[in-house]
Amino acid sequence: MNVQLSEKIQQLKKERNAIILAHNYQPGEIQDLADFTGDSLALSVKAAGTEADVIVFCGVRFMAETAAILSPGKTVLLPDKHAGCPLADMITAEQLRELKRNHPDAAAVCYVNSSAEVKAESDYCCTSSNAIEVVESLPGNKEIIFVPDQHLGRFVSEKTGREMILWPGYCATHAAITEDDIKNARTAYPDAVVMAHPECTEPVKKLSDQILSTGQMLKYARQSEAKRFIVATETGIIHTLKKENPGKEFFPASKRAVCPNMKRITLEKVLWSLEDMHYQVIVPEQIRTRAKNALDRMVKVLPASPDSRQASRGGPTK
Ligand code: 13P
Repeated sequence: MNVQLSEKIQQLKKERNAIILAHNYQPGEIQDLADFTGDSLALSVKAAGTEADVIVFCGVRFMAETAAILSPGKTVLLPDKHAGCPLADMITAEQLRELKRNHPDAAAVCYVNSSAEVKAESDYCCTSSNAIEVVESLPGNKEIIFVPDQHLGRFVSEKTGREMILWPGYCATHAAITEDDIKNARTAYPDAVVMAHPECTEPVKKLSDQILSTGQMLKYARQSEAKRFIVATETGIIHTLKKENPGKEFFPASKRAVCPNMKRITLEKVLWSLEDMHYQVIVPEQIRTRAKNALDRMVKVLPASPDSRQASRGGPTK
């Protein structure tokens, strides 16, 4: 870590009454610098509850937008304005409206990896750590539209036994992890537990032992008796897995699983962001209030309040 840069950031953070939130996929030095690190759900809850005036969101745009939706009085900064999420961009609000027109009785559930406009068109939002609970909370006879991630959607459908109308979106970083990657990693480390994110493809999930959100992976690794783990998600999480579990070993399922958008955030950009108060993420009020309904309903479904390192409710799922 660049000590000088980090000191300057800490100083400015105090002056601005700012908090730094970082997703588990962020570069290691950003995770180390952050006040809170977590998965999408834990970060949403933190953003909604903080007393800071400024939230520097080290993640991608939809995460910063979620913070802006939940904390209207605060200034939310995204240190790189181009840090987007291609999965979130795979569906527009108009495309969702058309889907709803074709299924007028369906409830629309959107994955948090979606734009504020898509959230505003949705009845419920969910993250990978609570998608099953959100879908289970809907009446058994209710038709369900699930957007935009088809792989998470299929996983939830399988776990809940609910048929859902799926949008064909996907995360390119998770799609880069192949069946061969898992088979090769298992050959190299036959005693290792394979943890996969639900955004992975179905064949990859079938070959894995545990299907977990990033927060659930951190919890599972802490609690497991196993000593070796193959990690089928964005490789940034391995930084914290290693840090929290010095006696255990973690191997990426694929070195290609690197999200270029998450890696746009650097220490310099965090500093500039606090110096110049950019790039502010602003959600128009009429979109924000409707999007907030979907997020509020998601939070209501949850019996547990996740902490910054522990976003999972209950045990792992497969
Ligand atoms: P988590 O909620 O599991 O951290 O996932 C976030 C994400 O964007 C996965 O691509």
